[in-house]
Formats: sequence, structure tokens, C-alpha cells
Amino acid sequence: MDLKAYIRALPKAELHLHLEGTLEPEPMMRMAARNEVEIPFRSVEEIRAAYRFTRLQDFLDIYYRGMDVLRMEEDFQELTRAYLERAAADGAVHVEVFFDPQGHTGRGIPFAVAADGILAALTHGRERLGITSLLIMCVLRHLDEEQGFAAFREAEPYIADGRIAGLGLDSTERDNPPAKFEHLFAAAREAGLRLVAHAGEEGPASYVAEAVDRLGVDRIDHGNRAMEDPALVRRLAGLGIPLTVCPLSNLRLGGVADLRQHPLKRMLEAGLKATVNSDDPAYFGGYLVDNFVAVAEALDLGPADLATLARNSIEASFLDEPAKKAHLERLDRIAATEGNPA
Ligand code: HPA
Ligand code: ZN
Repeated sequence: MDLKAYIRALPKAELHLHLEGTLEPEPMMRMAARNEVEIPFRSVEEIRAAYRFTRLQDFLDIYYRGMDVLRMEEDFQELTRAYLERAAADGAVHVEVFFDPQGHTGRGIPFAVAADGILAALTHGRERLGITSLLIMCVLRHLDEEQGFAAFREAEPYIADGRIAGLGLDSTERDNPPAKFEHLFAAAREAGLRLVAHAGEEGPASYVAEAVDRLGVDRIDHGNRAMEDPALVRRLAGLGIPLTVCPLSNLRLGGVADLRQHPLKRMLEAGLKATVNSDDPAYFGGYLVDNFVAVAEALDLGPADLATLARNSIEASFLDEPAKKAHLERLDRIAATEGNPA
């Protein structure tokens, strides 16, 4: 079994994935035409050519532009269904996906249009593709906390019955520290949501510590710059706080100049529960298995490291213990029998 087939065969959970970041150029063109939305591109080639970023904000500007074609419930459903098909083909058994409600309500699309379209596709994924899922709503950190509260209030019926299972924090990290959202995260915890936050992608290591100490997050999204603070790394390892790392995203947004300098292997060596994820795969050049293959080749990761990364993803998920145990037992069997890629 070659490296790619082995990676695909390992049961994996994807834990850091923005649904709006799975919008491929072809559906973007189709949705723009059918919804009569103006986009600044005339062809798929022009769209792809525009995906050259040197930092997070370059990407975010295009990402918010791109999502403007999502207008109808069926657009969100189509988007999510296409992602789930890719994830299932990559051997993902479970996904915990983000969406940005304020990216939609802020341009006049009702919360329910986005949420219901996504949820219909997640149900389809469970019933037809055998892929379990949880939905996490993210608040945009470049907006203020009161606007985050408004999104949270709109989500209340979805939170009450578990259709929305978590709260995350994304968008422009610089100058938007986690503590800006301390009251919102406290309210979300009170409501029973699981908590995650992007931290240490572009922002300093202190933002990672702040997300843990002030927001009480269950996981850190990215977390790369935590590596600049050895005492923090030891704390994260001791607390067992997982990091959802996104290698191709880091490469495309200039977090690392070359994947050979990526911190993933050092994270594992430091005892951090690091996982591999695709972030915004339509924009960053690869889905889950592409991220695994790229980083495995760049960092010379062997079958045991790859099994560890897959195992971490199951353990770091918000699945219940019996579900984790079942996936981990299968994973161990596959790693034992197939863990000798040519
Ligand atoms: N970082 C911050 N915000 C985001 C990202 C990201 O990688 N993708 C979508 N929103
Ligand atoms: Zn992200």
C-alpha cells in the first residue's frame, strides 16, 4: 500500500474546516450566474489566478468576496454536500465544520438560510456517506463582541437542540485578541457549547495562552506560534489541549516559507496533540489527504507518525467515548496491518 492509500485508509476526523472555504471556482461561477451576483472574475482561470496570498488578510478579502455567491438554502446545501463527498473519499469518518453566520447575515442572508442548508447536507452525509458531523459557528473577530452576541442569539434554537454544537473565533487575528470575546465565550459555555478559537496563526503566542485562560477553549485552531514559547508548549501538552494544524494553509498564507520548516513534527515531539486539517481547501490547494501527503513528504513522516496524527484527530474530536473507541480500534488494526507503505 503506498503512502497516499495508507493515509486514505486510516480513519480520520477533520476538525478545522471552513465550509465557505470549500467553494471551488466552478460552483462559484455557476452560483454567481444563477443568483445574478457580480463577481470580479470572468473565468475559472481568473479565479484561480487570484488565489495568491502573502498573508491572512489577502485571503480573507477574497474569501468574503467569494462567499457572496451563496444566496439560497440550496447553495449552502450544495457546498456542504460537495465537501462531504471529498472528505468521505479521503477517508474522513467524522467532521466538525465551521461556518461564518455573520459573513451571511451581514449581507442580508438570513441565519436560517445558511444553517438549514448546511444541516440538510450534514444529514445527507450521515445517512448516505456514513460520515458523522458536528456544526460549529464561528464569530468574526474583526467585528465587536456585541455583534457576536447578536449571532449567538440568532443561533439559540439551533444550540438548544444540538444542531449547533460549538462556538469558534476566526477572521483577522492581528489586533483582535481572544479576550475581546470573553463574555460571549462564557455565555456559550453556559449554553453547553464546545469552544474553539483560532490563535497563533498570525497572532502571537500570548493569544494562544489567552484563548486557553480567558476563553476556556477545548481546542486551539492552528496554534503554530505557540512554538515560540516553550513554557506554553509544556502547558498545552500537560493540559492535553489539541491543535488543529493546517499545513497547506500555513504555506499559502506565508506562515512558513517552505513546508520543510513546518512545526508539525516538532509539535508531535513536544507531546502536543496536533492534528492535520485543510482549513479552506478550495483556496489553499488541497483537501485532507493532500495536506497529509504534503506534510508527510516535507517532514519525512513515517507510518507511525501518520497513525499518531489520525489517532489525535479522533481523540481531539467532540465524539463520545464509545464512538472514539470504535474508530480507534479500527485505526489500530489498519496501522498494524498496512503500516508499511512502500
Ligand atoms: N484564519 C482565520 N480566519 C479564517 C480562516 C483562517 O485560516 N479561514 C476562514 N476564516
Ligand atoms: Zn481556519
